[in-house]
Amino acid sequence: MVSSFLSSTQSPLDVFFFSLFLVGTTSFHGAGVSASFTSFSTIHMTKNKDGAKALLNWKSTLDNHSRSLLSSWHDDNPCSFTGVACDDFGAIAHLNLSCLGLRGTLDGLDFSRLTSVVSFELTNNSIYGFIPSSIGNLSKLNSLDLCFNELSGYIPPSLGMLKSLHYFKLCPNNLSGHIPREIGQLDSLLGLDFSMNKFIGPILISLGNLSSLIYLYLWKNQLSGPIPASLGKLGNLIELSISRNNISGYILREIGDLRNLKILYIW
Ligand SMILES: *[C@@H]1O[C@H](CO)[C@@H](O)[C@H](O)[C@H]1NC(C)=O
Ligand SMILES: *[C@@H]1O[C@H](CO)[C@@H](O)[C@H](O)[C@H]1NC(C)=O
Ligand SMILES: *[C@@H]1O[C@H](CO)[C@@H](O)[C@H](O)[C@H]1NC(C)=O
Ligand SMILES: *[C@@H]1O[C@H](CO)[C@@H](O)[C@H](O)[C@H]1NC(C)=O
Ligand SMILES: *[C@@H]1O[C@H](CO)[C@@H](O)[C@H](O)[C@H]1NC(C)=O
Ligand SMILES: *[C@@H]1O[C@H](CO)[C@@H](O)[C@H](O)[C@H]1NC(C)=O
Ligand SMILES: *[C@@H]1O[C@H](CO)[C@@H](O)[C@H](O)[C@H]1NC(C)=O
Repeated sequence: MVSSFLSSTQSPLDVFFFSLFLVGTTSFHGAGVSASFTSFSTIHMTKNKDGAKALLNWKSTLDNHSRSLLSSWHDDNPCSFTGVACDDFGAIAHLNLSCLGLRGTLDGLDFSRLTSVVSFELTNNSIYGFIPSSIGNLSKLNSLDLCFNELSGYIPPSLGMLKSLHYFKLCPNNLSGHIPREIGQLDSLLGLDFSMNKFIGPILISLGNLSSLIYLYLWKNQLSGPIPASLGKLGNLIELSISRNNISGYILREIGDLRNLKILYIW
């Protein structure tokens, strides 16, 4: 076999070098794999510590009572913190701080150090102040739930960058201003709940771009003007609630295109 592989001009020495080269490549390759694995986990541990630091910094901005509720938040392993769950690589994946009774703002939370977060739930606390624009750093986020808090001010347009969002809930809070048109870019959305706030202006035409949407709750705001015909493009919509606003005009023929609609509140 070997002799048929060799051309007549090759000496046995060439074969020796050839196999030595193979052995060399294999072991070099093996070393390469373990080396990159090491740096991979080092990156995650660094990120992990960074995430812990971001959470601990935020904790220090909350009131005394909230800090005592987060007594498990210490050291640099966030995976053991109350309300924090990590992925298989040890990076922070889920932050569920719902119903803990936390009081404070989001200003001290450095979202740029929490980019591995996939879900962020903060429902039913006493979080006040503005939604920071830097929340747009959570590029992997697929669920954002800030319901039942005391947030005020505008929705930052940077939220339109959260392209993976499936669920986006802000009800009820004390948010105001126009709903930014960038929300119409969140084309992975399945559920949008902005009810029970103080949003003004028209119902966005660009909401008609959210073709995966299953429910759309805008009830109890101060929205005005007609129902945009673009909503007729929401072919997957099951629930639409825009009641308790200041909507005017006709119920458009396009609403009849919503073949999956089961619940419609527009009084
Ligand atoms: C919070 O705790 C610190 C000591 O840890 C104390 O000095 C401060 O008075 C407390 N503040 C309130 C509002 O209880
Ligand atoms: C988040 O925490 C709350 C309160 O502990 C719980 O009811 C809820 O199911 C949790 N959410 C998820 C997605 O696990
Ligand atoms: C909010 O949390 C409190 C406990 O902190 C609970 O008693 C209450 O039922 C919750 N409310 C909602 C709307 O989930
Ligand atoms: C990410 O966070 C940094 C620092 O807080 C901020 O300057 C930047 O605008 C944020 N990026 C996005 C997309 O929100
Ligand atoms: C709600 O927001 C308004 C400004 O839009 C502010 O004047 C008011 O104090 C806020 N209320 C609460 C309970 O935060
Ligand atoms: C979103 O909707 C607006 C208004 O209907 C439209 O001008 C725009 O082209 C749409 N964008 C996408 C990506 O579909
Ligand atoms: C509702 O809209 C009408 C015009 O469409 C306006 O006259 C009225 O003042 C609005 N009411 C409120 C409470 O905004």
